[in-house]
Amino acid sequence: MSDHASKLVLQNVSKQFAVKGGDSVVAIRDISFDVISSEVCVLLGPSGCGKSTILHLMAGLEHPTTGSLTLDGRQIVGPNRDRGMVFQSYTSFPWLTVEKNIEYGMRLNKVPEQERRARVDFFIGKVKLTRFRDAYPKQLSGGMKQRVAIARMLANQPEVSLMDEPFGALDAETRWHMQELLLDIIDETQMTVVLVTHDIPEALFLADRIVFLSSHPGQIRHIFKMDFKQGRRIPSKEELIEMPGYVEIEREILHMMRQEASNVD
Ligand SMILES: Nc1ncnc2c1ncn2[C@@H]1O[C@H](COP(=O)(O)OP(=O)(O)O)[C@@H](O)[C@H]1O
Ligand SMILES: [Mg+2]
Repeated sequence: MSDHASKLVLQNVSKQFAVKGGDSVVAIRDISFDVISSEVCVLLGPSGCGKSTILHLMAGLEHPTTGSLTLDGRQIVGPNRDRGMVFQSYTSFPWLTVEKNIEYGMRLNKVPEQERRARVDFFIGKVKLTRFRDAYPKQLSGGMKQRVAIARMLANQPEVSLMDEPFGALDAETRWHMQELLLDIIDETQMTVVLVTHDIPEALFLADRIVFLSSHPGQIRHIFKMDFKQGRRIPSKEELIEMPGYVEIEREILHMMRQEASNVD
């Protein structure tokens, strides 16, 4: 991996929030890492360690107190369609059908109608919702709504997809189906992803690299390369957990998570 392929670069990024009463809280401190083009970079760490803060900075929804963030060498100054986001909560428009929800961002971006149709058809198929294209969000399950959100983001063809605990509100079974579906789409579309989770098996399944953050204030504790995957993405959970090295890395991360959890004041 050469510097050449760096997509997103964070250099010495810190974020301090002002809180009532004149105090302030340091959410993250001195974070530096690169997100490589077409990689899945997972931010993992205990609750409150600053994962969402980092994602919001990448999205341009917040600004760093110190340090810099660049995308393809350009400073991130605000939200832009080159970065798409999926949140934990369902964010479809209730008054629009599945198809219209997916199309919405492309309309704003003035994508020509024919191209819009082609992308809707493609991504609606990818998230397996073709039969539900005329349904409204209230007629869908949680997993289906999250698939709409993912398709909507992808249809805008962002340079980087930012996902903040996208499956956090789903039940366990739906969750792993969604993880497998997402990995399949990521692999086919070669997308660059930054995904936030506090779920260790989810991180191990989806990540090409895991950036592990220490508890408050968030700092990089360790970056795990997924060497045990031998340069491949493993499409099923069963296959993954049977790979030599999986259990060891899961144990190491669990141990780190426990240490960090006990550091929370
Ligand atoms: N807008 C804000 N104002 C004040 N404090 C904030 C704000 N956003 C986040 N924080 C604080 O920053 C820390 C990190 O929060 P967050 O990034 O949401 O963590 P995570 O996503 O890892 O759970 C927490 O202590 C949180 O209370
Ligand atoms: Mg969060």
